[in-house]
Amino acid sequence: MTTATNETEPRHFLDVDDLSEAELLAVLDRADEYKRAVDNGDDHADLSGQTLGMLFQKASTRTRVSFETGMTQLGGHAIFLGEDDIQLGRGEPLKDTSRALSRYVDAVMARVFKHENVEVLAEYSSVPIVNGLTDDAHPCQTLADLLTIREHEDGFEDVSAAWIGDGNNVAQSFALGAALTDMDLTIATPEGYEVDDGVLERARELGGDPTVTTDPVEAATDADVIYTDVWISMGQEDERDVRMNDFEGFQVNADLLENAPDASVMHCLPAHRGEEITDAVIEGDRSVVFDQAENRLHAQKALLSWLLE
Ligand code: CP
Ligand code: NVA
Repeated sequence: MTTATNETEPRHFLDVDDLSEAELLAVLDRADEYKRAVDNGDDHADLSGQTLGMLFQKASTRTRVSFETGMTQLGGHAIFLGEDDIQLGRGEPLKDTSRALSRYVDAVMARVFKHENVEVLAEYSSVPIVNGLTDDAHPCQTLADLLTIREHEDGFEDVSAAWIGDGNNVAQSFALGAALTDMDLTIATPEGYEVDDGVLERARELGGDPTVTTDPVEAATDADVIYTDVWISMGQEDERDVRMNDFEGFQVNADLLENAPDASVMHCLPAHRGEEITDAVIEGDRSVVFDQAENRLHAQKALLSWLLE
C-alpha cells in the first residue's frame, strides 16, 4: 500500500523483458530457495502483513490458486477480485480501480483480455502490477517454464526449444524468456497465427535469434523441449471451427515426438486432449506439465518478494 505522497516508482511485471537477464536469474534462484523452503517446512514469511489484489476478467485455476497460496506461505494475504464482483464490471474506469486499489494493497496481479489494460493499471498504480495473462503475454507462466527447464535440462546452455502451435500469449512471453536465457528456439505456427513481429524484434534485441517456420517437424527435430498450448484461447471460442481446421497437423503426438527422442514435453495447461496434444503424450513419461504447474507457485513467490522488497 502506498499513499499519494509516496513518489517511489513501483516496478511492474507486464512481460518477461521487464526483467534484465541478471534480474530474471535472481528471481529463478530465489524461486529455488522458496521451493526448498516448502520442501523442508522452513518458515519464509517474507511478505508478512502484505496484501495482493488479484483482478480477474478470465477464468483461472493455476494462476489464482498459486498466487493466493503463495501469499499465504509468505505470511501475507490475497484478495480475489472477479471483474463482476467489483465496480469495474459496472463500468468504473480501470484507472480509478487502479488508483483505489493502490491505496489498500501492496501489489496487484491482473488477468485481463487486452494487454493495454495491464498498461493502464500500471500507469495509474503506485504499487507493482503483475501480468497474470493478457491476450498478448503470460510472463508468470514463462518464469515457471524457465524454472522447469533449468531443473530438467540442468541449465539453459545448449538447450533447444520448439514451440508448436498458436503464437499468442504463452508463446510470445516464452520467446522473450528463451532469448534472455540464451536458449535456441524454433517457433512453428500455422500461417496467420505467428508470434508478433514486435515480439520477435524484442527477442532479438535481448540477444535471441528465434527461427520461425510453419513446419512442426522442422521445429521438433532434435529439440530438448517441445512446448504447446491450446488452439482456442479464452475469448476465441467463436473461432473454434476455423481454428480446428487451421491447426491441423500441429498436434503434439507420438509421431511428432519420434523426431525428438530426448525431448521433454511442456504445456501451460489447461490442455485440450485430442486437439493440441494427445492424452498419451501428456500422461507419458516425457511430460513435465505438472512440474510447470507447481513451479508457478515458487516462481511467483520469488517475483512478488523481489518486487516488494
Ligand atoms: N497456465 C495457467 O495460467 O493456468 P490457469 O488458466 O488455470 O491460471
Ligand atoms: N493461451 C491460453 C493460455 C491459458 C493459460 C489462453 O489464453 O487461454
